[in-house]
Amino acid sequence: MSVIRIGLAGFGTVGSSVYHNLLKEAELIFQRSGVRLIVTAIARRNPRRLRPGLPRSLLVPKVEDLVSSNKTDIIVEAMGGCGMARDLVLSALKAGKPVVTANKALLAEHGKEIFREVARHRTPIYFEASVAGGIPIIRSLKEGLLANRFHLIYGIVNGTCNYILTKMSKEKIPFEVALKQAQELGYAEADPSFDIDGVDAAHKATVLASLAYGGCVDFKKVYVEGIRHVSTIDVQFAHQLGYEIKLLAIIRSSLPSIEVRVHPTLIPKTNRLAYINGVTNAIMVRGHIAGDIEFSGPGAGGNATASSMISDIAQAAVQFTHAKARHFSSDGCGLPTMTLSSNDPKVMNIKNVVSRYYLRLTVTDKPGVMAQVSSILAKARIGISSVIQPEGHEGKSVPLIFMIHDARNDAMEQAISKIQRLNCIKAKPVMFRVENFES
Ligand SMILES: NC(=O)c1ccc[n+]([C@@H]2O[C@H](COP(=O)([O-])OP(=O)(O)OC[C@H]3O[C@@H](n4cnc5c(N)ncnc54)[C@H](OP(=O)(O)O)[C@@H]3O)[C@@H](O)[C@H]2O)c1
Repeated sequence: MSVIRIGLAGFGTVGSSVYHNLLKEAELIFQRSGVRLIVTAIARRNPRRLRPGLPRSLLVPKVEDLVSSNKTDIIVEAMGGCGMARDLVLSALKAGKPVVTANKALLAEHGKEIFREVARHRTPIYFEASVAGGIPIIRSLKEGLLANRFHLIYGIVNGTCNYILTKMSKEKIPFEVALKQAQELGYAEADPSFDIDGVDAAHKATVLASLAYGGCVDFKKVYVEGIRHVSTIDVQFAHQLGYEIKLLAIIRSSLPSIEVRVHPTLIPKTNRLAYINGVTNAIMVRGHIAGDIEFSGPGAGGNATASSMISDIAQAAVQFTHAKARHFSSDGCGLPTMTLSSNDPKVMNIKNVVSRYYLRLTVTDKPGVMAQVSSILAKARIGISSVIQPEGHEGKSVPLIFMIHDARNDAMEQAISKIQRLNCIKAKPVMFRVENFES
């Protein structure tokens, strides 16, 4: 019988759930994998902080001890961040100890360096839990959809933002109130910036794009726009037009480069993602052989994330047991994805991306306004698909909404900056991209 000993870094939401579920489901895991998984050492940061259920006898003084210990075979990183976590992962790989992590920030921002070490030391890293928590999207892309080219991947990958947008949509409450509720329920951090500014979703988009297209996508080239500027008024106008506003991660092949972007997006109510509510995540993958495949489920939380991590730990353990000479293949499941490549995918600059738009202007309620705005758009060769002046907004300033045909982002930005300078414009124009994902 193989026994694999685990060094666990972090005993917070995720780490503690990994530990408890490994204990609780030990028999089931053994029956299915043939290996016994035992946590033999745990490291954390602040020994005085109360962590219920923490087995103090397993605590080691320093994170580094997990790797140097002769009582660990595999390292599970559940600390987060890119400081100590990066050091731990690099040293574990160097020591030939496979790594399991849920840390998307680390993979997105240091993927190149980490996969160089994976290749150099022929020691794998597993990261199923880094995108969409409990949804097995990583393994599906790497294994289940192996023969597919991915024309399009898009999804809701941040539960905090989706919770806030769902509240704004269903209960018509402002962004700040929805955010406060999310914080009270533990769905948003005290400092929610990483989530609501789109950075977390962009980290996940970077990991998915790297997997889908090979090599390492440069996180710094990913376009990121969060949801702070989404207002109830736009959510309601979107409804009237037949759309929901969702924070989407969009990855699209646009040869010779790829689009990787995160921004609030109007999606038609005919799209199933429009009905993904609350903290649930959902990802749609368009494979050229398989067609459209949808994944949805819990994108975060201790148990959901632990479910993915334990699956990774079991796979690492089985590979570790079989790889007598420690000749692992280049990454976790033996497939040459997200490894070092001289042909890292080139991310298209957002200014070259073509999409449709929702444009809300606040204008003086006088004749001639429409003509001035239309003239600027026409000169920029930007087509208007419809214009709406909603009723019930009589007064000095009124909203005027344009739905715009496909146009390049830079053309749209330039036109908006000209429109903004018109005397009839009374507030900063609001623009969101519109996608129907038909092609
Ligand atoms: N929470 C989720 O739903 C979720 C979902 C998917 C992925 N993830 C990822 O999982 C990872 C962990 O998230 P979490 O929510 O479990 O975090 P958390 O609740 O804040 O727990 C972090 C744990 O790591 C320890 N730690 C942090 N920095 C450390 C350092 N420098 N040295 C030693 N120990 C350190 C903390 O020690 P103390 O116990 O002393 O505080 C704590 O035990 C992150 O990468 C996150 O992005 C989380």
